[in-house]
Amino acid sequence: MQTDMDRRKRTQDRGGFEAGALGFGCWAIGGEWSAPDGSPLGWGTVDDDESVAAVRRALDLGVTFFDTADVYGAGHSERVLGRALAGRRDEAVIATKWGNLFDERTRTMDGADTSPAYARQALVASLRRLGTDRIDLYQLHLGDTPLDKAAELRDACEEFVAEGLIRAYGWSTDDPERAALFADGEHCAAVQHACNVLEDAPGMLNLSEERGLFSVIRSPLAMGLLTGARDPGRRAAAGDIRSTPPAWLSWYEQGGVPARHWAARVEAVREVLTADGRTLAQGALGWLWARSGRAVPIPGFRTVAQAEENAAALTHGPLRPAQLEEVAALLA
Ligand SMILES: NC(=O)c1ccc[n+]([C@@H]2O[C@H](COP(=O)([O-])OP(=O)(O)OC[C@H]3O[C@@H](n4cnc5c(N)ncnc54)[C@H](OP(=O)(O)O)[C@@H]3O)[C@@H](O)[C@H]2O)c1
Repeated sequence: MQTDMDRRKRTQDRGGFEAGALGFGCWAIGGEWSAPDGSPLGWGTVDDDESVAAVRRALDLGVTFFDTADVYGAGHSERVLGRALAGRRDEAVIATKWGNLFDERTRTMDGADTSPAYARQALVASLRRLGTDRIDLYQLHLGDTPLDKAAELRDACEEFVAEGLIRAYGWSTDDPERAALFADGEHCAAVQHACNVLEDAPGMLNLSEERGLFSVIRSPLAMGLLTGARDPGRRAAAGDIRSTPPAWLSWYEQGGVPARHWAARVEAVREVLTADGRTLAQGALGWLWARSGRAVPIPGFRTVAQAEENAAALTHGPLRPAQLEEVAALLA
């Protein structure tokens, strides 16, 4: 019997690119890295062996799409993903990103470069760290790049496709106008943007529907808030970006506790999301699938247990339309 999730898998095929309904985000498994002023940009310490085991468990459970970036852990996330996929490369679909400058030795991010020449240099370095000869989805990481620069980068990406270095490309941006400019490129397959139960993104989802892109959904669990594991008494550890949240990160307060306003909203929808025997995280992923047939959430993970719980969301599938309406009413 064909399920809704099977149909979804086949619709994500612009630019010859296909992903399943669910991917896994590899920011956290990059481990610690920081801004030039020392403030954390990673999620604290991680156990690389556990990360590798989690990626392999995901593959076993049918999750084949992995989203990373060259800058996560200043190259470390790509290396760990490459190690996990050694011998299983053909089972996986790899997305990575470029645009930020970083020092692998000091694990520090130190600027950005929007030139096509740097895009090529970064691509070669990512291929080396990932231990592969091609990237399936290459994404511009700088969400506010001016349109004229972005047009040059889109054309550079078409060259990379022609050379066989990448299969498709996209832009990590929350701006529909910018995403539309990339979508004019023949092999642009995706836009990566924020969206979750607590903060909808109708403009971006509509653009993906109209232009036949798929929406790679970042922070689908509101950086851990929509999992139930972050109760108000639990602080994020030092070295975790949630412990000293930068201005754009509103889910957490200084000190790493969930922001009261958001925690109250999670409580308001907990019962609806966990109906049908779903965990909170599985309900949050089901909400995204119900919200749009183009949505491919990429929850982050750092353990085999998280990988298993999030992969099991696939068996539950999208929330029912009535549940979607109930969530909207509760949050109105
Ligand atoms: N600009 C960009 O392009 C951009 C920005 C942000 C994210 N992203 C991408 O999107 C991916 C996902 O977003 P995100 O990492 O920000 O946040 P997220 O997916 O909303 O939350 C992930 C975090 O929630 C916790 N978690 C996950 N599953 C869980 C489970 N089943 N039970 C309990 N806790 C669980 C883990 O952290 P703890 O265990 O530590 O709580 C995990 O690291 C990233 O990894 C990255 O690939 C891209």
